[in-house]
Amino acid sequence: MTSGHFSTPADESMPNTDLLPSVPLLAIDRQNGPLREQFRLVIDQVCDSGRFVLGPDVAALESELAAALDVPHVIGCASGSDSLLLALMALGLEAGDEVILPSYTFFATASAVTRLGGIPVFADIDPVTYLIDPEDVARRIGPRTRAIMPVHLFGQTADMDALLPLAEAAGLPVIEDAAQSILSTWHGRCTGGIGDVGCFSFYPTKNLGGFGDGGFLTTTRADLADSLRKLRVHGMEPRYYHDVVGINSRLDSLQAAVLRIKLPHLDAWTTDRERNAARYADLFTRCGLTDVITLPQADARGRHVWNQYVIRVAHGQRDALRAHLAAAKVGTEIYYPVPLHQQQCFAYLGWQTGDLPVTEQAALETLALPIFPELEPQEQLTVVGRIAEFFGRSPVPADIAHAEAGSDGIAKPKQFGRTGLIGRADEVRC
Ligand SMILES: Cc1ncc(COP(=O)(O)O)c(C=O)c1O
Repeated sequence: MTSGHFSTPADESMPNTDLLPSVPLLAIDRQNGPLREQFRLVIDQVCDSGRFVLGPDVAALESELAAALDVPHVIGCASGSDSLLLALMALGLEAGDEVILPSYTFFATASAVTRLGGIPVFADIDPVTYLIDPEDVARRIGPRTRAIMPVHLFGQTADMDALLPLAEAAGLPVIEDAAQSILSTWHGRCTGGIGDVGCFSFYPTKNLGGFGDGGFLTTTRADLADSLRKLRVHGMEPRYYHDVVGINSRLDSLQAAVLRIKLPHLDAWTTDRERNAARYADLFTRCGLTDVITLPQADARGRHVWNQYVIRVAHGQRDALRAHLAAAKVGTEIYYPVPLHQQQCFAYLGWQTGDLPVTEQAALETLALPIFPELEPQEQLTVVGRIAEFFGRSPVPADIAHAEAGSDGIAKPKQFGRTGLIGRADEVRC
């Protein structure tokens, strides 16, 4: 299944005999397995307490997150999608109001706006970082604009140096969609505490993932924090009295109890992701593959937390490479194949193909590779080796493979979890 497009002469290619039979896109079992007994204990405690919605575990998690992210107010809620909706409600978005956001993001970023009758105004992205392009944002600010919503996509902070002055000059609040970027920073400050309000997700594929849906908001503004706490419980305060209409978006105590076990590990897990990203960069470069794939770049002004490691594959080769990797049981994903301005449900907004050329090109060319913290060196060698194989390149040179594999040169992946299950989390997408 080797592509002819970039092939080197056949005699330079050798079979990749040392590669592993499979590499999962994500293996949540490896992270949860060692913590299983602690999870059992706190789940028992929640059962015994009889407090299942909000309650002391949610309050404690909110304080612990506030300390970890160095932000004064944290408000738990039922999902990352709800956090975006709640943020817009707290800022008073009304029907017909416009919000500027990228089209190259998960659906929830835009649907939060349309659920309130607002109009998403899509801005194009930077071709290198895939993050919202501040110059295009500036062009799209108009009399009906009510907010700017950058997305810190794949774990990297949007260019806040350019976006914050734009928002300030226009008198607009900034809502950070930080669903993929917990612990990422910009000039040392954590995302979520840079704009007016930050929106996060505990979806299982996120860097801090729960045992189901969950999310939270961050803000430095006490007025917004008060309003968000009320809106997540139907606008109720005191009990059974409502002066505004909110929604039901409460974080479960069980989720909070589990997340409290995981949070102390998040920084180390993030460091592992950074190490894996650096290892890919090194391997792809040393294997001479950077002329056929474009590696992701981390902006030196912030910490990239690598929720995804996304390469670009030009010349219409992306889907064939993905099929080749799937045949070799290497998990990959396309984030996102159809930009939001081209989604059928948003056809009424009147966007045409060609309106956001950088976004549309990225949707055709990007591919996410496994990057989770517990990924083994030999698994990364296998990913790189399979990509080399696709392009008809020589396999990973033996000296590189042996150095990555350890001193005995015999690289074996560790066995994780009870089942050694590979790829269960591949079914989990966002
Ligand atoms: C950028 C972005 N925004 C919002 C969400 C929504 O979060 P949730 O799935 O928790 O509703 C996600 C992912 O799920 C996301 O990746």
